[in-house]
Amino acid sequence: MGNKIKKIGLITSGGDAPGMNAAIRAVVRACTYYKVECVGIYRGYQGMIEGDFEPLSARHVSNIINRGGTILKTDRSKEFRTKEGRQKAYNQLKNAEIDGLILIGGDGTFNGGLVFNKEFNFPCIGIPGTIDNDIFGTNYTIGYDTALNTIVQVIDKIRDTASSHNRLFFVEVMGRDAGFIALNAGVGAGAEEILIPEENLGLDRLLESLKRSKRSGKSSSIVVVAEGDKIGKNVFELADYVEQNLPQYEVRVSVLGHMQRGGSPSCFDRVLASRLGVKAVELLLDGKTNLMVGMVNNEIEAVELKDAVKGRHEIDKELLRVSDIMSI
Ligand code: F6P
Repeated sequence: MGNKIKKIGLITSGGDAPGMNAAIRAVVRACTYYKVECVGIYRGYQGMIEGDFEPLSARHVSNIINRGGTILKTDRSKEFRTKEGRQKAYNQLKNAEIDGLILIGGDGTFNGGLVFNKEFNFPCIGIPGTIDNDIFGTNYTIGYDTALNTIVQVIDKIRDTASSHNRLFFVEVMGRDAGFIALNAGVGAGAEEILIPEENLGLDRLLESLKRSKRSGKSSSIVVVAEGDKIGKNVFELADYVEQNLPQYEVRVSVLGHMQRGGSPSCFDRVLASRLGVKAVELLLDGKTNLMVGMVNNEIEAVELKDAVKGRHEIDKELLRVSDIMSI
């Protein structure tokens, strides 16, 4: 290792995700392994501005691999969007003799790191941590698998009551502007229809599909709706529209909300987080910067941070085709 980095700062930023603690644990233990110091920075970029730092040893991260959330807390800092705020953050890092940063978060987090590196030439490596899975350069983001499993278990429960009452349920899931959560959880939960931003099927297509379900003898249905869906009606308006146009349906709505962000991370997310955390430390110690670590075809790779932010993670067309066939 061309090792000029002696002390690594670590933040979690943006929406929290299950597995972030596993990534924190991996970064701290990799630093210990390579005999460099690690400093936890609380509350993301805002804590960086305020100097809210704590040295982390391998023992500080015992028994957290199984915990949801992030022990470093997270925040969305408005002050860091100002040059003055970033200058304060830089001064805090220099005072603490921190000479490299690892940023666990999504595209907003990485944008902040790119600007910070450009203004202060400060080494930054990103780790994709968000349940949305909407980051270019990795097949999976930390937290996505756990969120899918949480949602599928909840929809299974909703299906129990839907079938008992012969009802149609609209279930809204997170994902911001992406449909990865809705598509994969919808297929996994056996939803009759899945509405995602990437493919606006329109209201007529939805009504036709629901009529076909009824004709085929389905007494209850689940429609999974991505929160970023572009059909032009929110999930409650959708329910009203369908009840008005298909009076044979009794309709209910469940908005899953922030429970999708919680829970003990799945084994997949724990292993993904551990692999990415180690790689992020090794890249910094190799003198690299402005990269994001990711897993592509089960290989740990690094992509340019600017590409991770600008690139678009495409929805799986094959899975879209499967979901269409499954809704027959
Ligand atoms: O980016 C993760 C996410 O959970 C999105 O899916 C969701 O739209 C957003 O965060 C909610 O943000 P907040 O936690 O600030 O309400």
